[in-house]
Amino acid sequence: MAAVANAFKHTDILVGFKPIDDLHREFQAIVDALNDPAEADFGEDLLALHEHMLRHCATEEQFMLQENYPHYERHKRAHEHLLESVAEARRRFDANDLDGVRRFSTELMSWFAIHAQSEDAELAGFLKGVA
Ligand SMILES: [Fe+2]
Ligand SMILES: [Fe+2]
Repeated sequence: MAAVANAFKHTDILVGFKPIDDLHREFQAIVDALNDPAEADFGEDLLALHEHMLRHCATEEQFMLQENYPHYERHKRAHEHLLESVAEARRRFDANDLDGVRRFSTELMSWFAIHAQSEDAELAGFLKGVA
């Protein structure tokens, strides 16, 4: 599991458009905290993750709407799926399913990197083209 989480790091989630890359670095810091065994305050880290992801997704969606991005609906659906996964991890924490939270935490970087390299990279390319 740890090998999967560590397979994706910092540079894999950068897309070359500063406002999005700033959000992605923030995301990285929260995931690092979530996976740091010395910290292990899942409740606080999951809340920070949820708050961050709501702002992160809203910011990207705002860029899409401002610039009439043609794949807004598809990208927004992907965000809804990501946000639901975070909400589900918080429900697991509330239900004391700590193994479930650990599984989520170790897989988080991999699925976020896939989103960054597909949806976010395509959006960044579009935004750089219109900027
Ligand atoms: Fe993003
Ligand atoms: Fe996105």
